[in-house]
Amino acid sequence: MNVSVSASELLRGALTDLLDGLPPKQAAQAVDRLIANYRGATPTDAPILRDRADVAAYAAYRMPATFEAVRSALEAFADAVPGWVPGGHVDVGGGTGAATWAVGATWSGQRPVTVLDWAEPALALGREIADANPALRDVRWQRARIGAALALDATDLVTVSYVLNELSAADRAALVDAAAAAAQAVVIVEPGTPDGYARIIEARGRLVAAGFRIAAPCPHSAACPIVPGTDWCHFSARVSRSSLHRQVKGGSLAYEDEKFSYVAAARFPVAPASARVVRRPQIRKGQVLLDLCGAEERLERTTVTKRHGELYRAARDADWGDAWPPPAP
Ligand SMILES: C[S@@+](CC[C@H](N)C(=O)[O-])C[C@H]1O[C@@H](n2cnc3c(N)ncnc32)[C@H](O)[C@@H]1O
Repeated sequence: MNVSVSASELLRGALTDLLDGLPPKQAAQAVDRLIANYRGATPTDAPILRDRADVAAYAAYRMPATFEAVRSALEAFADAVPGWVPGGHVDVGGGTGAATWAVGATWSGQRPVTVLDWAEPALALGREIADANPALRDVRWQRARIGAALALDATDLVTVSYVLNELSAADRAALVDAAAAAAQAVVIVEPGTPDGYARIIEARGRLVAAGFRIAAPCPHSAACPIVPGTDWCHFSARVSRSSLHRQVKGGSLAYEDEKFSYVAAARFPVAPASARVVRRPQIRKGQVLLDLCGAEERLERTTVTKRHGELYRAARDADWGDAWPPPAP
């Protein structure tokens, strides 16, 4: 069952309700303050999301984008583990629950879910927003600090979305190791920047060392073929802009593209894509140029022309981030 459309609509509705009564100028100012905070001194010793106004601004401004990025990563993961459905989920640094919404949108049905975060106002608002989604009403919103002492209860899936960025190197390592010790599958998402990619590669290494296999985006669990410092592996998810977005960012574009890096890994056997499209395909007259990361552990450009018939039609439809060749229908 495809539950994703209704989940993203439910989320948008809940976020719109959240800003009801908050003067648009005040919401925009709160977002500006948060952006400044996030650009500043992270990691921090205390939560950045301090009160309801901070959290409402964060949720309205960022949740649709983090939801789409995580959902995109989870879809690639689900394709690599056909038939697998998480029987339980822990969302670490889950904040207002974007990744929890994305897991609910990827796999229908009920499962025990716990969202862990140190910011009580984020948890409280997450609970409030989740009320709009019947699948999320039993989620446990629990205060926890990520650090050397973090131990997670055993579960099928751990998600860590847009969190590593806020942690010291030691806490990042402790979190990934705790996730690996507790879960059958771990999905980590970070901003699609060179630094975000570097944190993903570091986490990927720890997961492989802990016995995990990489399910997505990589076609293999060997070393990433990107020479450090020359490029970064990232993808893009399209997000429609809310009126708050337009107000903060200006312009009238109806959407924006959220760039993200991710890794999805499992303890059980996985069937990763044989290659993945790692740049926006270039469509030329009679041919499509695809930049691929392949199972042979290298990056290469392939040209698919009209001569390739069915494959050419598939290449014209291929998107950045897709598996290549496309799986049989
Ligand atoms: C950018 S937000 C991302 C929230 C959510 N995962 C998402 O994708 O929208 C980062 C979250 O990590 C939490 N966080 C940061 N450092 C933490 C720590 N040391 N312990 C627990 N939570 C932490 C913050 O409170 C915040 O909710």
